[in-house]
Amino acid sequence: MKFHIKTFGCQMNMNDSEAIKGILKLKGFTPVEDITEADIIIVNTCAVRKKAEDKFYGKLGEINRVKKRKKNLVVGVCGCVAEKEKEKLLENNVVDFVFGTRSIPRIDQIIDEALKGKRFVYMEDHIEELDGSFPRIRDSKHHAWVTIIYGCNKFCSYCIVPYTRGREKSRPMPDILKEVSSLASQGYIEITFLGQNVDSYGKDLKDGSSLAKLLSETEKIEGIERLWFLTSYPKDFSDELIEVIARSNKIARSIHLPVQSGSNKILKLMNRGYTKEFFVELIQKIRKAIPDVSISTDIIVGFPGESEEDFYETIELVENLRFERVNLAVYSPREGTYAAKHFIDEIAQSEKSRRLQKLLELQKRINRDINKEYLNKEVEVIVENTLEKTPGFLYGRTINNKIVIFEGSRELIGQKVHIKICRTTAGPLYGEITKQEVKV
Ligand code: SAH
Ligand code: SF4
Ligand code: F3S
Repeated sequence: MKFHIKTFGCQMNMNDSEAIKGILKLKGFTPVEDITEADIIIVNTCAVRKKAEDKFYGKLGEINRVKKRKKNLVVGVCGCVAEKEKEKLLENNVVDFVFGTRSIPRIDQIIDEALKGKRFVYMEDHIEELDGSFPRIRDSKHHAWVTIIYGCNKFCSYCIVPYTRGREKSRPMPDILKEVSSLASQGYIEITFLGQNVDSYGKDLKDGSSLAKLLSETEKIEGIERLWFLTSYPKDFSDELIEVIARSNKIARSIHLPVQSGSNKILKLMNRGYTKEFFVELIQKIRKAIPDVSISTDIIVGFPGESEEDFYETIELVENLRFERVNLAVYSPREGTYAAKHFIDEIAQSEKSRRLQKLLELQKRINRDINKEYLNKEVEVIVENTLEKTPGFLYGRTINNKIVIFEGSRELIGQKVHIKICRTTAGPLYGEITKQEVKV
């Protein structure tokens, strides 16, 4: 049996797909890149914005054309659109089975049923079974994603995630530490802890576990060189966490803290639970304690009720805080959320685009200015991969999440090298290797 998995959405979906791949490979199935070769196709979907959902329906169209020629092809859908649409997805003849974000540990049995020719939806919660001993097939040999908390309890008014991923559930700390130790013994040197809100980690366990404690325990594991975590929630970002990062030389100096808007009126309508002033103070506190930290954020433009003044407050915030990166999104009403039910999506598409463009330009200028300061400096990176479009070139990441491009051979992937920066842009930095660590 040959299978193909297509993954949309966030790193958590990627990590889930790695678990699905692991189980199917253990079952004796072979992963294939080309969908026309596959006997089973699984699409792991994202529903965060309409655009993400549309991409999935586009993919279904492509699969439909393959299925017309290959009648016994079995097609499964999982991820956030699966949770959102459930039975409705079976109305589409291409789809044979649908399973939930918390049903992944049962993928073995789910596939068996599907191969018998049944068409069904399976949504049961077995997330606890997805522990550190689960076999995963990971793309990278040196950098691993490790989901530490599932779900979200925040219910920001615009967001579908709490409906598709369920309530917060933390994995026990010993289980995570076991997984990381095993990864370290396989040669992994970088770990990214994942969760919709990693700062909630441990609260539901009621045993004193927290993200700060987890990070300080993980950095003791021999072989682990760098630790990342995504995504943080401003209101829950603790002083203890700031201290742990400041003290460490392994935890990345990179924090992703979505602000969403610079207007208190909009933050309130979004149900984010903090004010602009709170956010600004938090950033100042973090920067004071961790001087070389880089902070990135997410912003939504065109939220219902966002006036020109509200938008201007966001511009001002971006101008003042000088983020390392800003992920910008245009508001997209998601069926079933509070905002979709109670607020009218009143801002014209053209106006939303104008606001998006304005912020994009501003951030580009900020990025260009921040990056200029790296010129002629030497940085240390862990080499991530080859540059697909330019043979002979590699890219790596600094501890504060700067992407650096340089010439070198692929044997350097997963190693630390020193680079002298000779050119900067609004995006990556470019440089030359000055020193490399020799791995023994
Ligand atoms: N848990 C994270 C991110 C979740 S989704 C957090 O709290 O920020 C990733 C990003 O998508 C969000 O930060 C938000 O900026 C964006 N997003 C979520 N729902 C959206 C919607 N309905 N329309 C537009 N952007 C949205
Ligand atoms: Fe969505 Fe808010 Fe939860 Fe992030 S914290 S996943 S934006 S509900
Ligand atoms: Fe998308 Fe679901 Fe992740 S909506 S962003 S795949 S949690």
